[in-house]
Amino acid sequence: MVKRIVSLRSCGTRAERRKLTQRRAGNWAPSVLKIKGNFVGIHPPSAGGKSVRQAAIETPEARPILKWAGGKQWLAAAAPRLIPTKWQGRYYEPFLGGGAIFFAVNPKRATLADYNTELVDAYKALRESPQKIVAQLRAYPHNKKFYYSLRGKSPRAPAMKAARLLYLNRTCWNGLYRVNRKGAFNTPFGRYKNPTICDSSRLQEASKRLRRATLLSRDFEKTVARVKRGDFVYFDPPYITGHTNNGFLKYNAKLFSWSDQERLARVAIRLNRRGAYVLISNANHPDVIDLYKGFSLYSVTRNSLLGSDKKSRGSIAEILLSNYALMGCKSEVIK
Ligand SMILES: C[S@@+](CC[C@H](N)C(=O)[O-])C[C@H]1O[C@@H](n2cnc3c(N)ncnc32)[C@H](O)[C@@H]1O
Repeated sequence: MVKRIVSLRSCGTRAERRKLTQRRAGNWAPSVLKIKGNFVGIHPPSAGGKSVRQAAIETPEARPILKWAGGKQWLAAAAPRLIPTKWQGRYYEPFLGGGAIFFAVNPKRATLADYNTELVDAYKALRESPQKIVAQLRAYPHNKKFYYSLRGKSPRAPAMKAARLLYLNRTCWNGLYRVNRKGAFNTPFGRYKNPTICDSSRLQEASKRLRRATLLSRDFEKTVARVKRGDFVYFDPPYITGHTNNGFLKYNAKLFSWSDQERLARVAIRLNRRGAYVLISNANHPDVIDLYKGFSLYSVTRNSLLGSDKKSRGSIAEILLSNYALMGCKSEVIK
């Protein structure tokens, strides 16, 4: 099982560090952002009371309902810093996946999309009929025989389809969404002893939040066609390969090529000209950074604890690119 925590490196004075650690233990867990080379700490939110940003992420159920390769739950605690200070428009997340940042930001109006139609259909079904899905999941036992029997089925009713996806996601190997050439889900049964198959309150909360969103199954470029000045767009594409041996990323490369990365950068530059707030997560790779001239660059480090395999433990650096200032963080502008 992969356990991840956002690293908490030393920053500022000892008193500031202690404050950060205390907050991490509570609801507000700071991330640590580093710009290339120079360490830049994130300081606690300046507002003394509860800011809108903090309130947005304090509901414990405001978490993804799916495990997703490349999921950003580890970054979600830093959501208060990612939200543009003056943002009042619509929220866009064109590479939705598990939607960790969407659930953490909890926007009033959102457009959410993903290429994966089955995934988007599941969110639509959850938005429309959470009770049906909860009832279905409660009836599903956790065993290998049932897993393979459900995996082999193709229910038509939207709620049944969604319940199937949620069940398989919770009980399959590492929560990996993998399909064969015909598009059939083919991940084997996982090794979880007692997985949470039905977290009713989390599903209900997700359904509530999804009711404020338009859900689309389409390519990212089409999703952002109507973005206006003042809207906030968060892109979390599949990462490029080559910088890591992670099998998920290799798999994604077939779906999201280098020319897609270049296309994404062109789209981001276009949105910047349009006056939207743009934030992109990506792999820490010089070729990627080169695509975003004029954007601010942050490096986000997190620890990855891979089960009992001590060799694979370590700090992983990913980057954030933005055309606005992340609250409390210094940045380097890419030249
Ligand atoms: C890294 S994942 C997003 C993870 C998400 N941020 C989370 O927290 O779970 C990337 C997502 O992009 C989707 N995707 C791949 N190519 C796409 C495209 N051309 N347009 C839209 N979505 C795409 C994949 O289906 C996948 O769900």
